[in-house]
Amino acid sequence: MRGPCPGLNSLANHNFIPHNGIVTLLASIQASLNVYGMALEAATFAGALGALYGGDLSDPTFPYSIGNPPPVGLLGGILGGLGLFGRPSGLSFTHNQFESDTSATRGDYFQFNGDAHHLQMPAFQELYNLQPESPDANYNRTVILAHRLKRIQDSVQQNPYFFYGPVQMVITCLTTALIPALMSNHSSEHPDGILSNNVLKSIYGVTGQNGSLVYTPGTERIPDNWYRRPILDPYGALHVVEDIIAMGLYDPQILLFGGNTNGPNTFAPLDLDDFTGGVYNAASLLQGNNAACFVFQAAQLLFPSSINGLLGQIVLSVLQKVLDSIGGILADLTCPELAAVNASMLEQYPGYRKSSHAV
Ligand code: HEM
Ligand SMILES: *[C@@H]1O[C@H](CO)[C@@H](O)[C@H](O)[C@H]1NC(C)=O
Ligand SMILES: *[C@@H]1O[C@H](CO)[C@@H](O)[C@H](O)[C@H]1NC(C)=O
Ligand SMILES: *[C@@H]1O[C@H](CO)[C@@H](O)[C@H](O)[C@H]1NC(C)=O
Ligand SMILES: *[C@@H]1O[C@H](CO)[C@@H](O)[C@H](O)[C@H]1NC(C)=O
Repeated sequence: MRGPCPGLNSLANHNFIPHNGIVTLLASIQASLNVYGMALEAATFAGALGALYGGDLSDPTFPYSIGNPPPVGLLGGILGGLGLFGRPSGLSFTHNQFESDTSATRGDYFQFNGDAHHLQMPAFQELYNLQPESPDANYNRTVILAHRLKRIQDSVQQNPYFFYGPVQMVITCLTTALIPALMSNHSSEHPDGILSNNVLKSIYGVTGQNGSLVYTPGTERIPDNWYRRPILDPYGALHVVEDIIAMGLYDPQILLFGGNTNGPNTFAPLDLDDFTGGVYNAASLLQGNNAACFVFQAAQLLFPSSINGLLGQIVLSVLQKVLDSIGGILADLTCPELAAVNASMLEQYPGYRKSSHAV
């Protein structure tokens, strides 16, 4: 199994997680930390979401497929696997629960007939073109901001079912930020790392030069002589906060939640004032740490509301612990208090209505 995450795909290709792509919650967290320097809270948040929406909740090790739904019998557990909404879906089919529109290189689910897990070359090419094909290339944080904005504009223009809710916003901003943060080659001369043309291509499973780039699914590879992010500065909640704020400063459109309402180019922002009962609005969201405060608070409120089964509650308690610990980190940011959001306002977006069990 291979799916929408180049990090997990490469970990499986190198056997840092099982080669078949079925991984337990704990193993996915450990490998993300040890191999890529993804902080414990960030990896636990991602892993818990993956297990919750894509995995087998009847097995106490919470195994999940990093790609397609596993065939019956490959998972142990009850009836060969029991997910939150029936058969475990695998990460590839967690649309608007985890997998979201405007990913850095993956297509949008409804725009590509449910294939949101393969790399789409036009999207990769857009990213690739942001640096010259030369030894000086570095796909750093600044470069990634430009790509983030471009991908949102692509979805607005091309995907009639584009949906960009608070959860989808934080997931795609986070996963896009992981490109420079975790894929870069770190050294003492370049402590923030350098992400060269070749390293980017290798971890994404792309070969060739500009004009003849080829993507071969299943070939995602960590290059030889590549050095991960220092383990003493793993990529975690505070980096996410910093990166989300940087994205909002780069262009407020990146933080503008909403979706297309009636075909391409019909993007309508979510009225934040109504959604949050007056606690936030479009202008205040861009002040101080508010953007980061809001997305974590909205996640805390929206995730639990989508879970009702008993099995889900077990993993949700893992997720809740992570969200609480992030809440603790955020306490230092002095966030405005947000007690509730009006989730039914999301129903105005066709892309939300069309996704089963969307968050
Ligand atoms: C428990 C660990 C992890 C889980 C469950 C996970 C899961 C996912 C999922 C579901 C997506 C698709 C989200 C979307 O639609 O954009 C994704 C995307 C992504 N992940 Fe991971 N991930 C994990 C760890 C990592 C690590 C260690 C890296 C390190 C490189 C990484 C890098 C990325 C990137 C760059 C994307 C965006 C892909 C693109 O569209 O180009 N992830 N991940
Ligand atoms: C790739 O080629 C196209 C067309 O010639 C050009 O516009 C683009 O800038 C090139 N990209 C890189 C990374 O050199
Ligand atoms: C990223 O690289 C560009 C040059 O391509 C440079 O102007 C910018 O300051 C760099 N950003 C960071 C965060 O290092
Ligand atoms: C990573 O950086 C080190 C130190 O500059 C260099 O020797 C090595 O070749 C680089 N690795 C890759 C894959 O670019
Ligand atoms: C929530 O939003 C729905 C849909 O816009 C609206 O009908 C309802 O009155 C709102 N509820 C509250 C408590 O504001």
